[in-house]
Amino acid sequence: MKLKAIPSLAIFAAMFLRGPGPLAFAQQEATTRAPRSGQGVRPSPDALVATDIENRVRSLLDRMTLEEKLGQMSQAAYPGKIDDRFKDEIRHGRWGSLFNGGSLEEKTQLQRIAREESRLGIPILFGQDVIHGYKTVFPIPLGQAASWDPELVSRAARVAAREVYAHGVRWTFSPMMDIARDPRWGRIAESLGEDPYLASMLAAAMVLGYQGDSLAAPGSIAACAKHYVGYGAAEAGRDYNSTWIPESLLRDVYLKPFEIARQAGVASYMTAFNSLNGVPATANAFTLRQVLRKEWGFQGLVVSDYTAVHELIEHGFAADAKDAAWKAIDAGVDMEMVSTDFHDHVKSLIHGKQLDPRLIDDAVRNILRLKFRLGLFDLEMPVAEKGSVMPAPAALEIARKLAAESLVLLKNENRALPLARAVGKVAVIGPLADSPADQLGAWAMFTDQGAVRTPLAALRHVLGEKRVVHVPGLKNSRDTSVDGFAAALGAARSADVVLLFVGEEATLSGEAHSRAFLNLPGAQEALAAEVARAGKPVIAVVMAGRPLTLGDFARRVSAILYAWHPGTMGGPAIVDALFGDVVPSGKLPVTFPRAVGQVPIYYAHLNTGRPPSPKDLGIVPGSPRAQTIYRSEYIDIDYKPAYPFGFGLSYTHFDLANLRLSARELPLGGSLTVSADLTNSGRFEADEVVQLYTRDLVASVSRPVRELKGFRRVHLRPGQKVTVSFTLRPPDLAFHDSRMRPVTEPGAFRVWIAADSTSGLEGEFKVVR
Ligand code: BGC
Repeated sequence: MKLKAIPSLAIFAAMFLRGPGPLAFAQQEATTRAPRSGQGVRPSPDALVATDIENRVRSLLDRMTLEEKLGQMSQAAYPGKIDDRFKDEIRHGRWGSLFNGGSLEEKTQLQRIAREESRLGIPILFGQDVIHGYKTVFPIPLGQAASWDPELVSRAARVAAREVYAHGVRWTFSPMMDIARDPRWGRIAESLGEDPYLASMLAAAMVLGYQGDSLAAPGSIAACAKHYVGYGAAEAGRDYNSTWIPESLLRDVYLKPFEIARQAGVASYMTAFNSLNGVPATANAFTLRQVLRKEWGFQGLVVSDYTAVHELIEHGFAADAKDAAWKAIDAGVDMEMVSTDFHDHVKSLIHGKQLDPRLIDDAVRNILRLKFRLGLFDLEMPVAEKGSVMPAPAALEIARKLAAESLVLLKNENRALPLARAVGKVAVIGPLADSPADQLGAWAMFTDQGAVRTPLAALRHVLGEKRVVHVPGLKNSRDTSVDGFAAALGAARSADVVLLFVGEEATLSGEAHSRAFLNLPGAQEALAAEVARAGKPVIAVVMAGRPLTLGDFARRVSAILYAWHPGTMGGPAIVDALFGDVVPSGKLPVTFPRAVGQVPIYYAHLNTGRPPSPKDLGIVPGSPRAQTIYRSEYIDIDYKPAYPFGFGLSYTHFDLANLRLSARELPLGGSLTVSADLTNSGRFEADEVVQLYTRDLVASVSRPVRELKGFRRVHLRPGQKVTVSFTLRPPDLAFHDSRMRPVTEPGAFRVWIAADSTSGLEGEFKVVR
């Protein structure tokens, strides 16, 4: 039995704040820190380092010209060609940071110019969009979230950090922690799902993986919490669209992962493209100055998103570029990505006394502080190691494990899965069985596609060439031609089982790739109907960047394994699961709707005064019910989701029983233990993700019907039983009241230990003064 302890949010936060190091799982390479000296007697080594950095920042800042300061506040996209003009700009301190591109040799050359030939020798901060791996590509973040395994997610981030560090990069624009409750939004693929607790745990795990125990340690890079804030709530799921989020929801849900990332020590934040309640996030003094700087005490770097400063004009928030520069800096942005309004206009703003020069010093201080913390002034650029290969075997192992843990088994009729090794012949059909680029998903532009192992290759490896017949049927997921159908049906007829690889190409999700329909694109549903005519069991593997509405397709196939975009090792991971070498254990990090019309749909909603009635289930989609029942439902479709948050089947069977509460009352200032017994009563050794939910039954502000408060990934052999316990403290139950105070109000609470967000063992307790 293996129990991975995921502490509750408050404890997790407290662990970061207390030290000596963050969570144990991020300590694979932790250096032992010197024991702390007596309280208040001598400053700790960390404090000495911080003081030293502040002194160095001050002395540098004192010597900088305004032009040099503005250079530090400017980030360029990699120009493609490093010509003399660009080298000269670096020599003159025009750019404090560059992103996305360049070989290690080019970066080394530019860094040498910056450090040795610029007047003050300030190094360049190289950044990159390392979103779900660099050379080794892990599942898309939404897939990683389905693993509910912060430890493994942290290890994957560490691999990515090491790989990109070796190429001279010291800053990643990850993790993205926008809460996403709308699958139309293409960037849901990059998100950690709909839930603030799950997303917080995973985002913190990524931060710890990227940054390691020390930012200056070899292999460590600065993380960037993005997009601050509210970006995931884009109206109608259309990317960049406006968001309207009441402050209580903002604080309880959308800000939560950013707050936990802050507690995990994240080095930087990126402002979002959207406007939030009418004020663009890139000029939002409330979220940047009030919340991030003042309430959370953040002293790191805030970078704008790509040209987001200049876009303040399109937002109708700034009159021109000068006004945009002023508003962004005034609100608290330190560095401008790609557009050049800071550089072009701050001088005249200062001369015209429109901008306080101290704001410029503050911004530059935040930038230099990070550069010192990363050791950029002191460390040499890495040297390309001869003979080192990427992806390394150890990295691929982590990628395979994470891809396997991200798989969610949505359906398994009559135990269609796992397949027996002696299955006979398999027909591999569908456009995604052998498509390396699509399997990688969005943001995988720095890897070598030759390293990708597809399901087809993995199946051939396991079964041999002769037992695998491959007919794609469609050229890609959007193909509407039926020309390949006859061959696909023929292949299905010749085989004992059909493995159908469908879903979305990589290009259908990610930035600026929102969809208005959520069904399988192209003629994929028709292809499924066609191959079903062969009368063989059809096992569907769905690769996609978002929840899809599977409708009739789901009814037609025997089993559905949801694989997201699983990355470099997706093929072997899927094949491991198909044959039962690993048992699917992923759980949905986001609710799957039945139809687009249900969106936004998420489990932690309020109840309404007329909640839907479970007995009104089972309406055939598309057949309107005549009788009107005055409840919060639809007349033409079941109100419930297709698959709820937290859901995922297994090949084995888990029983939860015997819910125990250590007390009936939880005093403010006290704690409560909630436990249950979990038994593996099936035939397979497997993991289960046990989930803890609560509901505040009566409060001064209505609370969601359920909220996730903890989870554990548990590994059990057949017949094995374990007690799973969670500790709840009043801060875990807090929310923001109408005066925006974080409160835990005395009263009755319901609690569940569950296998998903709709079921579970139920108990009750009271919070008392
Ligand atoms: C995206 C960011 C990304 C940046 C740099 C923007 O368009 O919104 O997430 O980090 O580009 O590539």
